[in-house]
Amino acid sequence: MLGKEIMFTPVNLGSIQLKNRLVMAPLTRMRAVAGDVPNPLAKTYYAQRASAGLIITEATQISHLGKGYPGTPGIYSPEQTAAWKEIVEAVHAKGGSIVAQLWHVGRISHSSLHLEQGAPEAPSAITPSGQTYGADWKLHDYETPKAMSLDDIARLLKEYELAAQNAKAAGFDGIEIHSANGYLLDQFLQDKTNHRSDQYGGSVENRLRLLAEVIETVSKVFSSDRVGVRLSPYGTFNDIGDTDPIGLFTAVIQKLNTYDLAYVHMIEPRATSAGGGDQVNEEAPITSELFRAAYQGKFITAGGYDQVLGEKVLEEGLADAVAYGRIYISNPDLVERFQQNAPLNPYNRATFYGGQELGYIDYPTL
Ligand SMILES: Cc1cc2nc3c(=O)[nH]c(=O)nc-3n(C[C@H](O)[C@H](O)[C@H](O)COP(=O)(O)O)c2cc1C
Repeated sequence: MLGKEIMFTPVNLGSIQLKNRLVMAPLTRMRAVAGDVPNPLAKTYYAQRASAGLIITEATQISHLGKGYPGTPGIYSPEQTAAWKEIVEAVHAKGGSIVAQLWHVGRISHSSLHLEQGAPEAPSAITPSGQTYGADWKLHDYETPKAMSLDDIARLLKEYELAAQNAKAAGFDGIEIHSANGYLLDQFLQDKTNHRSDQYGGSVENRLRLLAEVIETVSKVFSSDRVGVRLSPYGTFNDIGDTDPIGLFTAVIQKLNTYDLAYVHMIEPRATSAGGGDQVNEEAPITSELFRAAYQGKFITAGGYDQVLGEKVLEEGLADAVAYGRIYISNPDLVERFQQNAPLNPYNRATFYGGQELGYIDYPTL
């Protein structure tokens, strides 16, 4: 079959049914209102994009301490859950499927965002290089995170469980565990950020223990075939890195093969900055080529795709679906535009993060 035909052929990712292979990538927009409740406009924003085979929500923190930027939504309070329920209903009413991306940023945070809890938490007390946004929307130097105790990890798993329960109560079709882009679960996986000497550090087996426990925890709420995992091997965003990405991520995939997951979602490292810029690293390895064959389930690829590249990766059998990020921000009817080979609206980076309607729900359809 030609790539274009495959793009518009339905596929099941575990028990999640997609009417086409176009996925809306998770996109942080920093427009949440008081209490980290999703913006009321988010209902319109997501419903406008319901022709996607699958919508993955913006990263959504599982706890207050898991928050890393101003204006990102949570899914740990009743108010947040009620707002998500309205969003899910709006997407379902238009025939779409939607999963919640569950997020904890770990050390990529600032104490001003969670004053009651203080310093960010992470596998090890290693300060990220660079600066980050605090609650005042201004840049601050990163702080040294607190290395999580075993009690902290037990608490974290409870937080994942509650977030999954809330996602289920909101009616989501499933959840995606954010284990990419240098956030908490990625910090546990990779040896630049994990210097622990207990059962969560050291060997690869130990470093992937927390991700495995999170999968097992949320799979008590959603069946595992409604749980996806996002990974970003070779990513460097948020000062992350590993001395042996092939060894590490091959072991991660072998572990993921033991769960009957909905999908694995990998970000190609050529899209270097995970939202922070438009640079492309042409030298970066192609991870769908490196890792797809090792994974026995369904595979979503993301990062720097246009229509032609997306059709090609489907035709080559290197992925079952393709996630689009930046061009989904500016093209709510991306599916219809691809169907008609229509030109795309350019995106405006200045309105990616924060604000209200502008650059959020006002991009024109065909
Ligand atoms: C504004 C913006 C926000 C993003 N937010 C998230 C996020 O919340 N979670 C995540 O896993 N990736 C996030 N990303 C990364 C995208 O999901 C995607 O992997 C990246 O943009 C590369 O895909 P693209 O080339 O199609 O844009 C974000 C990217 C952008 C541009």
